Amino acid sequence: MIGIGCDHGGFELKEQVRKHLEENGIAYKDFGSFTPERCDYPVVAEAVARAVVAGEVEKGILICGTGIGVSIAANKVMGVRAALCGDCYSAEYTRRHNDANILTMGERVTGSGLACKIVDTFLNTGFDGSYHADRVALIADIERRERA
Ligand code: RB5
Repeated sequence: MIGIGCDHGGFELKEQVRKHLEENGIAYKDFGSFTPERCDYPVVAEAVARAVVAGEVEKGILICGTGIGVSIAANKVMGVRAALCGDCYSAEYTRRHNDANILTMGERVTGSGLACKIVDTFLNTGFDGSYHADRVALIADIERRERA
């Protein structure tokens, strides 16, 4: 199950991504927004981020105008590794090396065709583990020290 979410700046692209998941038989939970009306990106980013960390969904996809706001907000939730991607190479390597659990994209930056390829790459690439796991553990250490 994949969690998806957006603000008004990412609404159209989220709808395209939602259709793409549907066409490919990928189960998803839509956390909204459900209309193109103005709304606050930190709210939906937190909802998707908490669902990922709780294991309610396996991975998340968040979309706003630039992809930056949802990325910053989601990364405030402990255990989230949200990566803003505008190309397939980044999507592949943030899975392989960072074990990213949330993909973020910007509707005003990335076209829907490329965005769907980025989604496929992100969802179909595994974590390399090995010494990359040690580095991901060091990220978790930063979180723990920051919040102690
Ligand atoms: C909304 O105008 C825009 O600020 C938002 O979608 C996002 O790009 C924020 O980072």
